[in-house]
Amino acid sequence: MNIILFGPPGAGKGTQASALCEAYSMPQVATGDIFRAHLKNNTELGQLARGYMNNGQLVPDEVVWKLVESRLSEPDCAGGVLLDGFPRTVNQAELMLGWFKSTGRELNRVLALIVPDEELVVRLAGRRTCLDCQATYHVQNNPPAVEGVCDRCGSTRVVQREDDSEETVRLRIATYHRETSPVLAFFKEQGLASEVEGLGEISDVAARLRQALQG
Ligand code: AP5
Ligand code: MG
Ligand code: ZN
Repeated sequence: MNIILFGPPGAGKGTQASALCEAYSMPQVATGDIFRAHLKNNTELGQLARGYMNNGQLVPDEVVWKLVESRLSEPDCAGGVLLDGFPRTVNQAELMLGWFKSTGRELNRVLALIVPDEELVVRLAGRRTCLDCQATYHVQNNPPAVEGVCDRCGSTRVVQREDDSEETVRLRIATYHRETSPVLAFFKEQGLASEVEGLGEISDVAARLRQALQG
């Protein structure tokens, strides 16, 4: 099964992805996480992406698609994958659908988390991210069991993401409305999108996502 977990910055894509991937035994491919891993390893791609990320802009389509195509071609993605943070432009969506078709794969569903802008700002302002495994927390809504220590990998490098300043968050949300929200309309036209209420307890949102996948 190939699924897209879609939504604005801070909608809860990363938070919900791990449980879904576990439930359906499929890998998570998160373009933002891949860029941050490159940044951590100080690669050329990481440096390039950082300039866009910290200004709330999208990394150019050619760069993103090259990365995603090579990741999707790896053997662990052959049986299905959950995409988080991709596609973010209609052009990226078309490139992906073309590749799926040419490799005999199918996009099964787009799960779109719906969360109002003001809630996104609150969520991102309080988010903390593990530099080592990318697990995300929230100072109030979802803190790690021991303050400053990652529940998943034990790292003590649980910090605020560079692009989570309020100014950059507002730019990211504006970029979402301008360039990424048309992707939802595109998938709706094809009857592939399910809109899922993203407000409420994390476990309730998870249950709604599972229901949307089964229905
Ligand atoms: P990326 O890393 O994908 O960031 P994003 O889309 O802005 O999304 P986030 O990771 O910020 O939010 P999320 O939905 O994962 O929320 P989370 O679960 O953490 O991309 C970063 C940058 O890389 C982009 O800006 C762009 O520059 C570049 N990029 C990436 N992909 C690209 C592409 N395809 N094309 C071009 N450029 C690309 O949750 C947020 C917070 O809320 C957490 O603190 C969490 O604990 C909390 N929370 C979650 N659920 C709930 C709930 N139900 N109630 C209360 N709090 C909650
Ligand atoms: Mg994320
Ligand atoms: Zn961790």
